[in-house]
Amino acid sequence: MPVNTYTGEIQTVYNWLLRLLVFSFIGCLVGLILGWVKESTRELIQYNRQLSDVYHRFLMSMVNTLEARDPDTRFHYQKVALLSVMIGKRMGLEPAQLSELYWAAILHDLGKIGVPNEILMKKGPLEKDEWEVMKAHSMVAEEIIKPVPFLNPLLTIIRSHHEKWDGSGYPDGLEKESIPLLARIITVADVFDAMLSERPYHKAGDSIDAAKEYIVQNKGILFDPEVVDALEELNTGLLDRIRNIKVLSDLEAIPL
Ligand SMILES: [Fe+2]
Repeated sequence: MPVNTYTGEIQTVYNWLLRLLVFSFIGCLVGLILGWVKESTRELIQYNRQLSDVYHRFLMSMVNTLEARDPDTRFHYQKVALLSVMIGKRMGLEPAQLSELYWAAILHDLGKIGVPNEILMKKGPLEKDEWEVMKAHSMVAEEIIKPVPFLNPLLTIIRSHHEKWDGSGYPDGLEKESIPLLARIITVADVFDAMLSERPYHKAGDSIDAAKEYIVQNKGILFDPEVVDALEELNTGLLDRIRNIKVLSDLEAIPL
């Protein structure tokens, strides 16, 4: 074999080995970078979950503070959240909407933290100026949660939970579909649970049938007809279990 041909083959093998080495190095480097990105993303997701969990626990402790101030509302927020999600499921809402609905229902009255005790727990009708303070609670709640970015989708829902289908509600006098759908659901669940419960202005709670009757009578007047239809379809036995929640284990036993 001529010397030149032999040298040429060695050169070719050398070139291929060099390419193999370079590509292996690049492959390892890309692998390392991808591994680092994957690990960082995992840590970021975990951190966000922890942060979200801390926010939710903090907000729940604020709701617990509200309940402690006004023992008549014990579990009211959780009951409204359960009822709202059940209605939402009947209406075919997506899981992400149901999650928003649950948290908006839990936090809907957070603004009552800003209402003085003598108004919040007054036995008897409120004076005009007291009523104005009470009505501001939906806007106060909005201000409380506004600094928390991941709760921003809940702002308009919470602000609008006292709007009425015919435009007679507050704070903006919205009507029909201009009221956010999830707020229309919470309105019905909130009124329904309030009617079943004992309150300073409402000593003995109504029966499930009487509460349903009131809601149905106001279908298309105060309440969204589709939401009322979904409430009517809910199982009475399950509604009775929600009504009778007295301790945390009762609450946790309700299937969602
Ligand atoms: Fe409210």
